[in-house]
Amino acid sequence: MLISSIKGITVTSQTTMPATTPRTPDATPALHLPIRPLDADTWDAAAADIEAITELKREKDAVILAHNYMTGDIFHGVADITGDSLALAREARHVTQSTIVLAGVHFMAETAKLLNPGKRVLLPDLRAGCSLAASVTAEDVSALRAAHPGVPVVTYVNTSVAVKAASDICCTSGNALRVVESLGVDRVIMIPDQYLARNIAAQTGVDMIIWPGACEVHEQFTAAEVRALRDEYPGVTVLAHPECPPEVVAEADFAGSTAQMSDFVASRRASMVALVTECSMSANLAGAHPEVEFIGMCRLCPHMQRITLKGIRTALETGRHEISVDPAIADRARLAVERMLAV
Ligand code: 13P
Ligand code: SF4
Repeated sequence: MLISSIKGITVTSQTTMPATTPRTPDATPALHLPIRPLDADTWDAAAADIEAITELKREKDAVILAHNYMTGDIFHGVADITGDSLALAREARHVTQSTIVLAGVHFMAETAKLLNPGKRVLLPDLRAGCSLAASVTAEDVSALRAAHPGVPVVTYVNTSVAVKAASDICCTSGNALRVVESLGVDRVIMIPDQYLARNIAAQTGVDMIIWPGACEVHEQFTAAEVRALRDEYPGVTVLAHPECPPEVVAEADFAGSTAQMSDFVASRRASMVALVTECSMSANLAGAHPEVEFIGMCRLCPHMQRITLKGIRTALETGRHEISVDPAIADRARLAVERMLAV
């Protein structure tokens, strides 16, 4: 199973990368262009759906939790709570409405259901997956445990409930370092994002046994692209998501979760910013911070893009698609997520 070991990082071979892993080699190519928030025409086109969704939320006793990668019509138009995966998990626990519409991807909806099982959780499009979640199975985790007895398994929330249930503790990009260090051990199995694990390994003395999964969006960014951007836009502040390869993170001024990048923009007041992450987020921040010029390193997540205003409206009208979690594994998975939230 072990294929290489580099400076405290052990890379395992992938035993079960599914043939159906939703890779999209034709994802939007990077463009270095100023980003604009939604224009008036787009808002006009969205107005009827926004009005209907606002009424449906009242009628159905529903709340919309939206990830930072949602398009502006959702993010600014109908979301009640926005944030990174950590914030959405935290907020899901406190929802009092009977229905949660998760405007994000499948693992986020599953996490909301785990943390607030009494609520009806709707995901507007079941095809909204994640290449990281598709890269690892519970059987892979068992094989890793067998190969590395006694080493705790730290699992990124971008995974299925079954994988969470096979893990000791979850993490997000916003708390991964804290979670790893909270364990007080000198070695962890960190799955499934090899780049997040490598980026965290660079900040801690803890050895990592890692899994060769990757985000199909962030793995495409290159250090050369960031350097070219800096040449084109001197003085630009570059923020990168830790799902990017380490050499990309090394070229950035700051690396953090989507919420941490958002907080950086709000607090540091840089005049020109490039976000090395999913492109919708730059447009959302451009709407919120008109004084900042945003330069696009534009790649879109095809899974996040499955969630549309019309899809949210249909979900509220029809009650589709309701997310359920297997009761046989829900308690174990919940424990791994709750351990993370307690750190
Ligand atoms: P965040 O937790 O930083 O929002 O990231 C989630 C994600 O899927 C990034 O690709
Ligand atoms: Fe998964 Fe990457 Fe899309 Fe995030 S951006 S949901 S990690 S494929």
